Amino acid sequence: MVWDGGIEPNGTEGKNFYIPMSNRTGIVRSPYEYQQYYMVDPMVYKLLACYMLFLIFTGTPINALTLLVTFQNKKLQTPLNYILVNLAVAGLIMCAFGFTITFTSAINGYFILGPTFCAIEDSWPHLEVKLLSGLW
Ligand SMILES: *[C@@H]1O[C@H](CO)[C@@H](O)[C@H](O)[C@H]1NC(C)=O
Ligand SMILES: *[C@@H]1O[C@H](CO)[C@@H](O)[C@H](O)[C@H]1NC(C)=O
Repeated sequence: MVWDGGIEPNGTEGKNFYIPMSNRTGIVRSPYEYQQYYMVDPMVYKLLACYMLFLIFTGTPINALTLLVTFQNKKLQTPLNYILVNLAVAGLIMCAFGFTITFTSAINGYFILGPTFCAIEDSWPHLEVKLLSGLW
């Protein structure tokens, strides 16, 4: 499709999504229903999934240990260390709700949870930042 003035759109807009790729060839599909393997090789998705697994399996124990050690040792409970605790909590939240969802999307090739959950997932980092900076 060519827009007025002969400018080719460089992306494809749909309900609740935008794909940074022109649908000139007609291969662009909704990221809620179809695998997005026309953008990059499926191998890249697998690599991303592996990287997410790596982050989950290293990030969860490291952050959990940081919290455990801080709670067990009174000496570590200094105002400066609470900055570290804050980071560890944020890291755990990322491992639990961020990387896991990126992993499901990467392994399936598309966002399997639907537009509603996408909106929640998209707005929730802002909430997270507000909560953590406000409460700690
Ligand atoms: C798409 O990209 C080309 C080259 O970068 C640019 O000239 C053109 O204006 C862009 N089209 C739109 C609709 O932004
Ligand atoms: C892209 O074009 C094809 C063929 O015209 C169409 O079937 C498809 O729905 C389009 N994709 C989007 C996301 O609109």
